[in-house]
Amino acid sequence: MACLGQTYGNASSIHHFGQAAKQRLEAARRQVAALINASATEIVFTSGGTEADNLAIFGVTRAAAGPRKHMITCAIEHPAVLMPFKQLGEEGVDVTCLRVGGNGIVNPDDVQRAIRPDTVLVSIMHANNELGTIQPVAEIARIAHDAGAVLHVDGVQALGKTPVDVQALGADLYTMSGHKLYAPKGVGALYVRKGTRMFPIAYGGHHERDRRPGTENVPGIAAFGAAAELAGRRLGEETERLGMLRDRLENTVLDRIPGTGINGSRWNRVANTSNIYFDGIDGEAMVIALDLRGFAVSTGAACSSGALSPSHVLKAIGLTDDRARASMRFSLGRANTVEQVDALIEAIGASVAHLRRISVHA
Ligand SMILES: Cc1ncc(COP(=O)(O)O)c(C=O)c1O
Repeated sequence: MACLGQTYGNASSIHHFGQAAKQRLEAARRQVAALINASATEIVFTSGGTEADNLAIFGVTRAAAGPRKHMITCAIEHPAVLMPFKQLGEEGVDVTCLRVGGNGIVNPDDVQRAIRPDTVLVSIMHANNELGTIQPVAEIARIAHDAGAVLHVDGVQALGKTPVDVQALGADLYTMSGHKLYAPKGVGALYVRKGTRMFPIAYGGHHERDRRPGTENVPGIAAFGAAAELAGRRLGEETERLGMLRDRLENTVLDRIPGTGINGSRWNRVANTSNIYFDGIDGEAMVIALDLRGFAVSTGAACSSGALSPSHVLKAIGLTDDRARASMRFSLGRANTVEQVDALIEAIGASVAHLRRISVHA
């Protein structure tokens, strides 16, 4: 709020008003860097996770010397990664999109098999947004670095949910988004390891050490910094609490409702995300039924031109269209309580019973 009022200056201005804003900006840079064990100078603020992903992927491609370029990603990435690679593919870059197993985890051996002398970039997410599954980033980093490639990690769903240490992970580029940490929407950052060759993707002023031009969103960035500090302080206890709520939700639902199961690995995942299938149920109908009962959940599926296409992540882990459409993604957060989870369990039970009943009569 202070940055919307008395500290409203432009962080690039020399006068004291601007310098006060600059101090906020740099404090936030240190806070975000601290959360991932980076140096402040390695943090580039962006408008969010999507921009950071695009900056990493197009920025490394542009900086890569030589005409032949090969890149590796995987089938369960967020569209903010898949779409830049699709575009690069259309522009003549050779892109390998790795498959994943039913557990929703990339096999490092597959990365090893796909990597080539001309591989410039490997981009694998840290935690999957629909399943919560955590990828073996450190192993993949070793494979990428042995081949001289840069590793980009989309960490949007991992930051604040699991410890992130870019040194231990070996990531050269790490994408973050403020709103996943309870900062306002429209702010994010890209960690760029010192020495990583990356060109900007937009041109203008000299902001962010010439890596991302444009007057900085100081209120958003200051909030992101504060949110990062809070997330770091609460990480251990919050992870444990959310894991208990998630297990309570899953165990009770699986126990009480036949034809249900967990999508992806139950073990290697962030604590707040649960993806459950309810055979015979239409996920969208379930979203509406739960919304009417006061619960905001999602299917993870995208709706294109009126036709509901099942989630690309659930398809990639081998689910049939029917089961993918019958799956729901539950995300728990800081404000959720045991009482709410118990009420959700009741609401799920009632909604499933109702939807299965009407589908029998349909
Ligand atoms: C894994 C992942 N990457 C990227 C993004 C995009 O981030 P933003 O919404 O900040 O652009 C999201 C958003 O949910 C995400 O889950």
